[in-house]
Amino acid sequence: MSFDHFEYKGVRFGVTVHTEESLNYAENEFEVLDDDVFNVTYPKSGTNWMIEILNLIKYEGDTTVNQCVPIYERSPWYETLGFRELQQKLTQPRIISSHLPQQLFAKSFFKSKAKIIYTMRNPKDVIVSLFHFTKILYIYKDAENFEEFLNDFINGNALYGSWFEHIKGWMQMKDDSRFFYITYEELLKDPRGSVVRLCKFLGKKLDDAQIDSVVKHSSFSSMKENKMSNWTQMPSEVLDHTKGSFLRKGISGDWKNHFTVAQNEYFDKVYQEKMKDLNMSFFWE
Ligand code: PPS
Repeated sequence: MSFDHFEYKGVRFGVTVHTEESLNYAENEFEVLDDDVFNVTYPKSGTNWMIEILNLIKYEGDTTVNQCVPIYERSPWYETLGFRELQQKLTQPRIISSHLPQQLFAKSFFKSKAKIIYTMRNPKDVIVSLFHFTKILYIYKDAENFEEFLNDFINGNALYGSWFEHIKGWMQMKDDSRFFYITYEELLKDPRGSVVRLCKFLGKKLDDAQIDSVVKHSSFSSMKENKMSNWTQMPSEVLDHTKGSFLRKGISGDWKNHFTVAQNEYFDKVYQEKMKDLNMSFFWE
């Protein structure tokens, strides 16, 4: 996996998207408000899907904002360079995205009443989604060799660090009442039930029609059609729209079309080893 990066406290970040200063601001200076809602993920785990869901919940199923503000401005990543400008436009309760590992998260969060929603995805599908994403996002060099890419991912040679460490770091908060975790696969299997659980966690009372609207407008097909949600507004110097779509397949299990039997067995072995101390199992195939 090849990308232009620098290291901040031992974790790799993409150049031009972050600077040491933007990461220091996120970690040490950013002031978290008590009603902030953070949408935290390892990349390619369903970040944008959750942005869509959370914004629709915020506006009780009304789609106006989702159809006139680009998704990356509705809930910007607070560790990125452009955040301070975008921050001015956010309305409370702010919905803020982040790919930061737990150890680099805003210190002020831990003294606040703000909430975190952490979405995880089968790491095999994360790898596949990321593999295809490298073809379209400019900070990556187009990955040619899947085997090499897989090994880099396993060894933590990836932006935002190791997937395994990200999960283990954030799962330290699993019993905290301000922390809610869910998998991409649960969202796929039971979108309505997932929205209901999210509303409960956020203290939002939506009626059945409003919940239906959240589910409908956050579906893969609705998001793919919505030009404010499908990233087609992103300039072509950032995303090469000729080489693929941000909303690519939106399914679980695509890894089966990419992993060889040997790669799958090897990954399972590494997974067991790296995750054994976590003592948790997740719902994914
Ligand atoms: S990023 O770049 O890290 O912010 O990407 P992220 O949004 O986390 O993940 C992108 C993948 O999520 C899929 N996606 C969805 N799947 C199902 N339903 C909905 N509504 C949805 N929205 C986004 C998107 O297609 C990427 O997965 P792949 O496997 O590449 O299709």
